[in-house]
Amino acid sequence: MVLLRTLRGPAYTRILGIGDYRPARIISNEELCRHIDSTDEWIQDRSGIQQRRQATPDESVVDMGTQAARAAMTYADLTGSDIDAVICATITHPYQTPAAAPMIAERLGTKNAAAFDLSAACAGYCYGVAVADDMVRSGRAEHVLVVGVEKLSDYRDLGDRGTAFIFGDGAGAAVIGPSATPGISATTWGSDGSGSAMISQSVSWTEAQERYAPASLDMPGDPARPDATVTDSLWPFIDMQGPSVFRWAATAVAPLCERALAAAGVTAQDIQVFIPHQANTRIVDTLVKKLRLPDHVVIADDITDMANTSAASIPLATAALLRSGRAHPGDLALQIGFGAGLTWAAQVVQLP
Ligand code: COA
Repeated sequence: MVLLRTLRGPAYTRILGIGDYRPARIISNEELCRHIDSTDEWIQDRSGIQQRRQATPDESVVDMGTQAARAAMTYADLTGSDIDAVICATITHPYQTPAAAPMIAERLGTKNAAAFDLSAACAGYCYGVAVADDMVRSGRAEHVLVVGVEKLSDYRDLGDRGTAFIFGDGAGAAVIGPSATPGISATTWGSDGSGSAMISQSVSWTEAQERYAPASLDMPGDPARPDATVTDSLWPFIDMQGPSVFRWAATAVAPLCERALAAAGVTAQDIQVFIPHQANTRIVDTLVKKLRLPDHVVIADDITDMANTSAASIPLATAALLRSGRAHPGDLALQIGFGAGLTWAAQVVQLP
């Protein structure tokens, strides 16, 4: 019997480089409140958000993701030909296919790197880091680029004041590669589909049926516009049961952080930085209190400038902390993504 050949990689990995991209246009709370019945004071008080970035209409998830990826590669002193795989975590690339990752890989000049998108919403980046860590340690790839990117402004419902203020656009990326010492801990992750309705991005099926069914059973055709599709008429917005999400995040996420620290073999005393998904400052404050993080731990607070950028929020916040000098290369950081699905993933990483 022949023995199939398999791969074996290095024992340890780390983040070699991190990069971010922030669209130029800043939308203040005041500007947003011209479209929704709200105030700057309410938004800051309930969410901590002071402003968000907005991509231009022709600036895509692929454009933003490529910019962040280039910055991460420069940080790691690598070029496109060094990258073996690209994972793009996003929920706002507007196509099921082709995925964004192969287009990003092509623009970076990779040599036909493996490339795929990953849909795990606000947990997407930490899912990507977990998969990249496994890929490198298994010998599947030497350098994996993980991109978290969102153009949430395309899916923001300005008719819904409960969600319109919360989302922002941006991209962050990390290059993961081999390391002589452990730079990425064991990941803890999971999902709970029973909470799938809490945050959903879809057209209302009921609305679609009401609009089309009387004239035709052959949805999505609109009898008045034979060339129209459901997405022409019913563009999907992100819908969120804000208070339910808040309750879940405020109760379930702290134990998930504790599990991640335990899986990494460290305690809250051992970390220097805490980078939770930038969902809402009140959620972050609750986590910090519940985890009894010591005073020396630097807490990511990029939400004030960027709002909630889903899969992009953790690498964006990491890049901001390093740039500002509040966090330093070599620091140990607990990062945790959590959100729609419901999904979550966390690991302790050594900052590049
Ligand atoms: N401006 C002013 N008032 C608003 C408002 C706005 N933008 N949005 C809602 N309100 C009102 C509501 O109508 C409600 O009024 P009522 O009491 O008269 O009915 C009141 O404010 C409280 O609404 P509620 O939805 O309970 O607000 P909240 O205190 O829970 O805060 C969120 C809303 C969205 C900030 C909060 O629920 C939240 O942060 N949820 C989690 C969001 C999140 O993290 N999402 C991503 C997860 S990955």
